[in-house]
Order: sequence, then structure tokens, then C-alpha cells
Amino acid sequence: MTVAILLGAPGAGKGTQAPLLSASLGVPVLASGDLLRSEVAAGSEIGREVDAIMQSGELVPDEVMVRLFLARLGRDDALGGAILDGFPRTRPQAEALDAALAASGRHVDKALLIEVPIEDLIGRFAGRRICKAGGHVYNDWFKPPKVWGICDVDGSELIHRADDAEATVRARMEQQLGPLRDVADYYREQGILVAVNGLQPIEDVARDLLAALGWHAAPTG
Ligand code: AP5
Repeated sequence: MTVAILLGAPGAGKGTQAPLLSASLGVPVLASGDLLRSEVAAGSEIGREVDAIMQSGELVPDEVMVRLFLARLGRDDALGGAILDGFPRTRPQAEALDAALAASGRHVDKALLIEVPIEDLIGRFAGRRICKAGGHVYNDWFKPPKVWGICDVDGSELIHRADDAEATVRARMEQQLGPLRDVADYYREQGILVAVNGLQPIEDVARDLLAALGWHAAPTG
């Protein structure tokens, strides 16, 4: 069983790497941003509450996020392990996660920090597109789809995310880098934080993350 957390600044590559780890490890991805965007799209009470917060680049309140995420973590498909993308984002969220996992005899195996300098992150957002149906992540320069504007995985339309406007991106960096450092420190103190160079090509970042989890591809040929 593996419970691994992907940490990183906005744009570091968490959403790109999560499905690659999931495919190798055979555990699902639980992505906090996707959960929140589904609530917004559904027009639920939580969705109406968090929409403006996400547009402003601020973090959603811990109480809302913990309730939503832990409900997802408790579903059957996550009992054998999961890749957590975007949660926890604050120390109280990390503590709530530890308590919930301990209650079901589980624990966080590794917290994987994808490190990319801020100046390299800002440029990634202008080229990012995600698919409407499944949130699969592309980039005009670094990871273009096979057919322009169409998702390789599910054929749905590729769109820009509402919070990828430059002003919101800068606000997200300003608001979220402090809490990210706190969460990284929390796992460093537990001795389970591993930092990986996120400036490498996507496949090389995935290789380093999997190696940190003790997973190595079988030799070919
Ligand atoms: P969320 O959806 O989690 O956004 P984020 O953390 O800001 O991260 P991103 O999705 O923007 O970036 P990423 O690291 O996944 O990078 P990606 O792989 O897309 O959260 C959205 C909002 O929800 C938050 O701002 C907050 O308001 C709220 N929220 C979410 N979780 C919360 C929580 N726990 N508590 C409170 N509030 C919460 O890659 C970016 C681009 O770079 C892509 O185009 C990709 O193709 C490209 N790329 C990726 N890797 C590489 C590489 N190695 N080389 C070149 N390009 C690359």
C-alpha cells in the first residue's frame, strides 16, 4: 500500500506527474483542485463557496478542504493506497490527514516535493491547457497534444483554466508559497520528505519520483 503526497508550487507539475505515478503504482490519484472544480461545475453549496476564493488565488479554508478531501480519501478505491495531489496544503490539513489515515491503520509513506524556481513557473501557465472532461494536463510548448485543441486521452476540448490568468497566477504564488514551506517542513521533520528537480523533462521527473518511492521500471529487452 502506498500513500504518497505530491507537493510543489502552483505549476510545478503535480497534475502532470500524478497520473504517471498512478499508472506505475496502480493506485488512484486524488487531486484537491479537481475535486474543487467538480464542485464549482456542479453548482453545489461548496462549489459556490469556493469559486471566488479559487479565482482570487487564495487557499480554500482548512475546514472545507479537510471535509471534502477526507470524504474522498475514505472511498473504497483509495483504501489500498493513493497519490495525493494538492492536499495537504497547510499544517492543519497535514495533521488532519495523519489522524484520518491512522484511524484506518494507514500512514503517509513519502511526501514528494517537486522543486522549480518561481521564474520558470510563471512562463508555464500561459501555455497550459487542460481537458474539459478529465482535467488531463497539456502545454503548448512542453507537452502539446497529438491533435491541436483535443485531449489525447478522452478526445474532449482543451481549455485554459480560469485561474491561469497572469494576475491570479501571481496571487497564487504570493498566497501559497508560505504554507507550502510549512507543509514541506512538517514532512521533513517526520523524515519522509524527498525533493526532486522539477526542471527536468517530464519523464525524468517521473523516474526520480518513482525511484523515491522505491519503484524501478523492469529492464526491457
Ligand atoms: P490546484 O488545481 O491544485 O492548482 P495548483 O496547486 O496551483 O497547481 P496547478 O494545478 O496550477 O499546477 P501543477 O503543479 O499541477 O502543475 P501542472 O502539472 O498542471 O488548485 C487550484 C486552487 O484550488 C488553489 O489555487 C486553491 O485556491 C484551491 N486548493 C486546491 N487544493 C487546496 C488545498 N489543499 N487547500 C486549500 N485550497 C486548495 O503543470 C503546469 C504546466 O507545466 C502544464 O502546462 C504542464 O504541461 C507543464 N509542465 C509540467 N511539468 C513540466 C516539466 N517537467 N517541464 C515543462 N513543462 C512542464
